[in-house]
Amino acid sequence: MRISDKPIAAKLKELGVELRPGVSLTEKTSLEIGGTTDQLLLHRYDAIPEVMCALAAEGIPHKFLGGGTNVLVDDGELPWVMLHLPSVHPGVRIEGGLAYVDASADLGGTVTFCAKNDLGGMEGLIGVPGSIGGALRMNAGAYGTQIGSYVREVELYRAATAQIETLRGNDIRFDYRHTSFAPDDVMLRVKLELPPKPYKEILAGIKVCNEKRRSSQPLNQKSAGCIFKNPQGASAGRMIDELKLKGHRVGDAMVSDRHANFFVNAGNATCANMLKLIDDVRGRVRIAYGVELENEVIVWKN
Ligand code: EPU
Repeated sequence: MRISDKPIAAKLKELGVELRPGVSLTEKTSLEIGGTTDQLLLHRYDAIPEVMCALAAEGIPHKFLGGGTNVLVDDGELPWVMLHLPSVHPGVRIEGGLAYVDASADLGGTVTFCAKNDLGGMEGLIGVPGSIGGALRMNAGAYGTQIGSYVREVELYRAATAQIETLRGNDIRFDYRHTSFAPDDVMLRVKLELPPKPYKEILAGIKVCNEKRRSSQPLNQKSAGCIFKNPQGASAGRMIDELKLKGHRVGDAMVSDRHANFFVNAGNATCANMLKLIDDVRGRVRIAYGVELENEVIVWKN
């Protein structure tokens, strides 16, 4: 969707929005799949309610992109604009044993920054790609750790009230790859309470997780991590592997030959290729195991 030539562009500029016309989502997502739209960088958090109000008044649909590491975006010209928080480095401040983190901060970078300040607990999350905002929304987890366990406060734009609010950690539900945030809430900042630990100890834990991940996941290929959630008490990856589907492909969308729950873009895969592969594998698992696999990846289909 193109809005750079519309009157709203000037209004958005006044609200601290940087408008980048015609951005390809292949450059913004780890799968390197997705069509084109205008990108709106929100430089002023306090102006977000007004920005949302202006977009709604003009009937301009939007989607909010975080790190782009857990999303499958449709092909072609996209019928919505993409909102984005500008990246910050490191985006973390430590004060009184608490970590104050910007939603656009890199998750891995945050784990490392906190570690250097002798704050641990998140070692398992070290290789999970993406931003803190995305990790919060999905309650990112790995190797027995989930980010929700450490959340004390979240500052967010709440679509329901059209205001910036602060929620206490105890008032948010963090489940397996699911939270009580509304789909159109926008994470802005989080306060994390992490257990104090000597840096060297944290580093040792980080190394173990990195090695486990390197030995089992296709880290150097274009993917969005695991495609399906694990059903209760079972492993989607193991089931797909047992069905001998590693290497199975639709166009350039392929079941990884390293980890069967990672579907990779082995070249120039389209969203249509990837969706067909997802459907095909889901169908085969349903027939063989009687289990309906649920997407872990977020699909933005027009
Ligand atoms: N397995 C196979 N073949 C495969 C893949 C896995 O037989 O191709 C077997 C493994 O040998 C193991 C079991 O399945 O016995 C579980 O595999 P793994 O330890 O790799 O964990 P997972 O359940 O497949 C989950 C998360 C990952 C996270 C790892 C490590 C989900 C959907 N996946 O994978 O998260 O990194 O545990 O904690 O919950 C993600 O969120 O995108 C993600 C990759």
